[in-house]
Amino acid sequence: MLKINENYQKLQGSYLFSTIAKKVAKYQADNASAKIIRLGIGDVTRPLTPTIIRALHSAVDEMADEKTFRGYAPDLGYDFLRKAICDNDYRARGCDIEDDEIFVSDGAKPDSGNIQEIFSADSKVAVCDPVYPVYVDSNVMAGRAGDFDEATGRYTNLVYLPCSGENGFRPEMPREDVDIIYLCFPNNPTGAALTKDELQQWVDYANSKGSVIIFDAAYEAYISNESVPHSIYECSGAKECAIELHSFSKNAGFTGLRLGYAVVPKDLKRQGVSLHSMWARRHGTKYNGAPYIVQRAGEAVYSPEGKREIQGLVDYYMENAKYIMSGLKEAGYTVYGGVDSPYIWLATPGKMSSWEFFDHLLTKASVVGTPGVGFGSCGEGYFRLTAFGSHESTREAVDRIKNL
Ligand code: MLT
Repeated sequence: MLKINENYQKLQGSYLFSTIAKKVAKYQADNASAKIIRLGIGDVTRPLTPTIIRALHSAVDEMADEKTFRGYAPDLGYDFLRKAICDNDYRARGCDIEDDEIFVSDGAKPDSGNIQEIFSADSKVAVCDPVYPVYVDSNVMAGRAGDFDEATGRYTNLVYLPCSGENGFRPEMPREDVDIIYLCFPNNPTGAALTKDELQQWVDYANSKGSVIIFDAAYEAYISNESVPHSIYECSGAKECAIELHSFSKNAGFTGLRLGYAVVPKDLKRQGVSLHSMWARRHGTKYNGAPYIVQRAGEAVYSPEGKREIQGLVDYYMENAKYIMSGLKEAGYTVYGGVDSPYIWLATPGKMSSWEFFDHLLTKASVVGTPGVGFGSCGEGYFRLTAFGSHESTREAVDRIKNL
């Protein structure tokens, strides 16, 4: 008899953002006149910039001409994009990464969910708490996480690295040996950032233990502080222990276009086997490559005009972050993040739980945010707002919160 993958039965409820979307849809259906402002999911609202649009149009025209038409993309990415990424995101920062260590994909979320496939089913996994849910759920699906313990709100076989106000939302090293460590900095959801010295300690730790760090750098474009590294490969020894994931969603607004990349250095080996070769094999077998027109749009991100425009998008959203931070502080909230990150992480007022505050904000102010506990038990009593709204809606949301 066919058996299902029973690990799926261990997943908790639905994906966090689907649960929120359902609650909001119900509230809107019951309150047709409510003008809901969504500062929940980290989805961008600014349109693609002119340089990106031009690149898309021109690539579409190429597809209409027999002489320039393209079929399947190379499964690891077009050379023009791998080179543009490597020149700008690595060589320009003094990181010794080569073009063929870049694997172009349809985004950091799929990469962060898929990367665990190249590791043994009994690998020990460490995650921050709170954490981007994909790291946990993809390991639950693969059978690595153990059972969900209702009492602790945690999986029995994962190692959780608590992040709280006391440690500045920066995790401490695991007390037990782990094989895989997921780190996302600037962090989703807390907005915390690690300095280069702090990240170096993780690299040294991973190299001393033989662990592999999956470093999610999706928010690096928001870094303003010079002591915060844009890539883990700015740390020495990172090529021997780290895989880095990047997104074009948060910097260039590609959430609807879909484009990202993973860096798997050739120096990264375990049991004498190259993880680069394993990921190339996996990518080539299961993925047909990001669309040509999207990869051309990605290339345009690195043109001089593209860079200027993308910086304009980041500045736009960071103006929102400042407004949210200062407005909430004025209203007496304790707030974190929002400096090297488009996420503002706040302590819920009084003794409200994260979901109570979610309901309070939705029903009293028609503002949607994300309950901190949705990211892990250490997120209880916290709440996340994103800076990805328009200036107008962000100001309106902050004013409504202040008037509560
Ligand atoms: C988030 O809101 O945490 C992110 O936007 C989700 C994602 O990027 O997949």
